Amino acid sequence: MPAAGAALLALALSVTVLALPATAAAAAAGFSCRPGARPVLFNFGDSNSDTGGMAAAMGWNLTRPEGRAFFSHPTGRFCDGRLTIDFLCESLNISYLSPYLKALGSNYSNGANFAIAGAATLPRDVRFALHIQVQQFLYFRDRSLELISQGLSGPIDAQGFQNALYIIDIGQNDVNALLDNFPYDQVLAKFPSILAEIKGAVQTLYSNGSRNFWIHGTGALGCLPQKLAMPRKNDSDLDQYGCLKTYNRAAVTFNAALGSLCDQLSTQMKDATIVYTDLFPIKYDLVANHTKYGFNNPLMTCCGHGGPPYNYDINKGCQSPGVTACDDGSKFVNWDGVHLTQAANAAVAAKILSSQYSKPQLKFDKFCRV
Ligand SMILES: *[C@@H]1O[C@H](CO)[C@@H](O)[C@H](O)[C@H]1NC(C)=O
Ligand SMILES: *[C@@H]1O[C@H](CO)[C@@H](O)[C@H](O)[C@H]1NC(C)=O
Ligand SMILES: *[C@@H]1O[C@H](CO)[C@@H](O)[C@H](O)[C@H]1NC(C)=O
Ligand SMILES: *[C@@H]1O[C@H](CO)[C@@H](O)[C@H](O)[C@H]1NC(C)=O
Ligand SMILES: *[C@@H]1O[C@H](CO)[C@@H](O)[C@H](O)[C@H]1NC(C)=O
Ligand SMILES: *[C@@H]1O[C@H](CO)[C@@H](O)[C@H](O)[C@H]1NC(C)=O
Repeated sequence: MPAAGAALLALALSVTVLALPATAAAAAAGFSCRPGARPVLFNFGDSNSDTGGMAAAMGWNLTRPEGRAFFSHPTGRFCDGRLTIDFLCESLNISYLSPYLKALGSNYSNGANFAIAGAATLPRDVRFALHIQVQQFLYFRDRSLELISQGLSGPIDAQGFQNALYIIDIGQNDVNALLDNFPYDQVLAKFPSILAEIKGAVQTLYSNGSRNFWIHGTGALGCLPQKLAMPRKNDSDLDQYGCLKTYNRAAVTFNAALGSLCDQLSTQMKDATIVYTDLFPIKYDLVANHTKYGFNNPLMTCCGHGGPPYNYDINKGCQSPGVTACDDGSKFVNWDGVHLTQAANAAVAAKILSSQYSKPQLKFDKFCRV
């Protein structure tokens, strides 16, 4: 599904970490759980953290090699195995998040995943933009509370919703689409409207009782094979690692603005905890210092077509007939041109869990430990 693959490019991850040393104020505002409570997560985002939502929504029958490195069968994740959000769930010893739209086999007792491949913040009223994901959450919440009020078993009660961690990892598809279509200054000029959507999502969740947020910045977009394989006049936009400077500069600028937005929201919502984690340096480091992580070809897909230097063909994606995957995905940062391999996701999750890239530096495993 090359065309669809391109549309799905979303990346996203969404996750988080909270840390602890922090100031007294941060500690006071930290996550609070009733004794014995289990962690509950709600995740919003794109394919970086889609655990099967798009496949369920569209009835897509993804085929191997998706999932081959862990689940041994396709799960709807655009990856050979686990996503960063999966590793974050493992760190809390909770089950992987069930996609909100997955009708069979789902268990929402530890939260739900609203992330959908291809999702962006804008336009806001299309399936499955961030705004729609938040509306789906409110629908989920109302149904759960309604069941409980009727004496039936709803997956999560009011206190569970209040204590839950709300993770947002979105923006990659917005920023990429802008860069693909507009000159740089016009791209930057559109950032405020993207950020306004993320702000609106947090405010809507907050006004409905959510208090704990973990917001991810976007990744090193200029190091993605899908972007690198686009025709260019010359190599003057490549940096020392072979990544596109313009895409990465846009990502860094976007993240700086998102970090500021999180500061602003923290100031306004005094009884909320809002952690911002910058994924750009984490993902850029995987490419720049790839040998440290055991990666050989940081700019080449494992599952793609065309051979070096990028092994990416927009018309022949990982799921296209005749496309074969590399033997050992653990040597690759990139899975299919847009999404990271499980090995890269594991490294990203470890960095998130280090708290080093978070503000405030709260520990993720501080959150509602059973
Ligand atoms: C989906 O793919 C699996 C193999 O991965 C196959 O066994 C199954 O028949 C397919 N289902 C449909 C409806 O094509
Ligand atoms: C993880 O959870 C399982 C039950 O879901 C429990 O049996 C196990 O002891 C837990 N492990 C840790 C380290 O808390
Ligand atoms: C859902 O998951 C929870 C926590 O892991 C578990 O206690 C419960 O039994 C599960 N429910 C079903 C129907 O499997
Ligand atoms: C929850 O969010 C919806 C949508 O923004 C809003 O209309 C509603 O007033 C909020 N509920 C509460 C209790 O604030
Ligand atoms: C490389 O291409 C850019 C435009 O993409 C142009 O501004 C620049 O002059 C070119 N450099 C050379 C050496 O041709
Ligand atoms: C590569 O690793 C070195 C040493 O840890 C670090 O100082 C540097 O910032 C890393 N480079 C990038 C681009 O992340």
